[in-house]
Amino acid sequence: MCGIVGYVGADEVAPILLDGLSRLEYRGYDSAGIAVWSGQDGMQVVKAKGRLQVLSDIVAGGKNVTGSIGLGHTRWATHGEPSDVNSHPQVSEQGRFAVVHNGIIENYMQIKEFLQSRGVRFVSQTDTEVVAQLLEYYYDGDLMGAVSKVLHRIEGAYALGILCADCPDKLVAIRKDSPLVVGLGEGFNLLASDVTAMIKYTREVYYLDDGEIAVLDKDGVQVYDGYFQPVEKELHHVDWEISAAEKGGYEHFMFKEIMEQPKAIRDTVFPRIQDGKVVLDDFTITKEYLEELDKIYIIACGSSYYVGMVAKYNFEKLLRKPVEVALASEFRYCEPIVTDKTLALVISQSGETIDTLAAMREAKRLGARVLSIVNVVGSTIARESDDVIYTWAGPEIAVATTKAYSTQLAVTYLLGLKFAELLNTISDEDYGELVRALLTIPSKIEEILAHKEDIQHYAALYFNHNSVFFIGRNLDYAVSLEGSLKLKEICYIHSEAYAAGELKHGPISLVEDGTLVVALASCTNLFDKLMSNVKEVKARGADVLGISIESQREELHKSVDAAILVPDIHPMLLPSLDVIPMQLFAYYVALMRGCDIDKPRNLAKSVTVE
Ligand code: G6P
Repeated sequence: MCGIVGYVGADEVAPILLDGLSRLEYRGYDSAGIAVWSGQDGMQVVKAKGRLQVLSDIVAGGKNVTGSIGLGHTRWATHGEPSDVNSHPQVSEQGRFAVVHNGIIENYMQIKEFLQSRGVRFVSQTDTEVVAQLLEYYYDGDLMGAVSKVLHRIEGAYALGILCADCPDKLVAIRKDSPLVVGLGEGFNLLASDVTAMIKYTREVYYLDDGEIAVLDKDGVQVYDGYFQPVEKELHHVDWEISAAEKGGYEHFMFKEIMEQPKAIRDTVFPRIQDGKVVLDDFTITKEYLEELDKIYIIACGSSYYVGMVAKYNFEKLLRKPVEVALASEFRYCEPIVTDKTLALVISQSGETIDTLAAMREAKRLGARVLSIVNVVGSTIARESDDVIYTWAGPEIAVATTKAYSTQLAVTYLLGLKFAELLNTISDEDYGELVRALLTIPSKIEEILAHKEDIQHYAALYFNHNSVFFIGRNLDYAVSLEGSLKLKEICYIHSEAYAAGELKHGPISLVEDGTLVVALASCTNLFDKLMSNVKEVKARGADVLGISIESQREELHKSVDAAILVPDIHPMLLPSLDVIPMQLFAYYVALMRGCDIDKPRNLAKSVTVE
């Protein structure tokens, strides 16, 4: 959700803010704005509905706005429609305070009514405006005094950036349940929602913890806890290259990230296989702990949740322990049965998804031990977990995930193997076979990618369909959920994934002439059953695009209208190959439908509001 960037230093700030925002645009892109202060022009605020480019054009790439301290924001609307006036920065009535915000101020209505009753006039529908107005209301010449009073009044989740015209050498950054990072430079300092916005300028960062407040001027940064006591922060060095967050000649980040999957999986898996064994650094889970385990509770949202669906099938098969998969947003409110013998496996690319974070805290509170699979180093979920296994996918920019999903899957295979080894539920032979197969995933994905034109061809055949069903059984079902989500996310096609056996319990009534059914049939033990389901939908007029493994080529062709084949691999690892054609199919369909692939409407990459 919304992206924040702030800079204080000696250089012209507006181009720096726009550059930072361009790297955060994936977080929110329905409007953007900047506030810049200069001695000559005072507080200058420029905001515009629409993409960042609209704002950038208005300020001539930043040349029209001078000053060397400022804040910028890209918005993903929560309170109030996308409009110029609802864009951030939100400014107090007298123009003294400019505020950018990511999150939701839950009690904003009460505060708004309170301030209105005292004559304050509001101009926007946002919850954020109350922060700017409340700062002004409490301000008596003491900036931090006003900040402190505001923090006592507001409730909810927030990352805030504050610029006060009376203290124009300082930025204040506050974090509660929404990410905020401070970057340290020589003669300048920065704040941002994530490091991608600042890595061009500095690689030395502080990750703010919940409740912390940072005060930045050009020469330094002081961080305080919620009681305004100074805090010593650990300095982190970000070591990935800026090119990792750039398109590098590709038309879309999504396509680039699809193509990067073999490398991302190699980086994630290969260093963790040593002498044929899975070796996980800093992994503290023991055989004794696992033997006592009553349940693994997988908690996640979106595609990460679908990774959990795959993991459930594999873990239960390998470990013979019960595994439950919960949507994080449901977990918190379903009175989950969690004990001190429950392992909560939390999966999150960003490590900041608010529902996942809240569910993880709830699981901890109930006694669970938390193991997380996270892509973003230093993110909140990573820091609050008992153990974390990073996916080394590098920054993922496209809103619709591809390489993060694939590397998360790969980590679940590693974990399944590790757990099975510790629990002694796998033979040496099966273990060795699975490890060897795991190492072939990247090259097999490369084979699929080398034939991407075939998938483009099928996309051209079917891109006009407005209703698509995905069907599969077992792992094929689990991975088809992700394929279906991709079509919804980037192609705006209504699509549903169904366990094929459920078809007759409702959805088949929707199948008619020309309905597209994508049938995943790579689980060989269930191939015949799946083909029966294919016959049922074909008998009702459906066009069927089948996906299976090479060794089923002939059989598949007998039953479907079009076939996509992936290389054979160990059955447990099939989802890693099956997902690739589905990603490519969605990508090409979106391209043919003229959709905005990297920034689909209404979606944000990092969902930091409930
Ligand atoms: C958003 C993204 C999805 C992602 C989900 C969960 O909806 O668009 O790609 O799967 O959030 O995010 P997380 O960062 O927790 O994996």
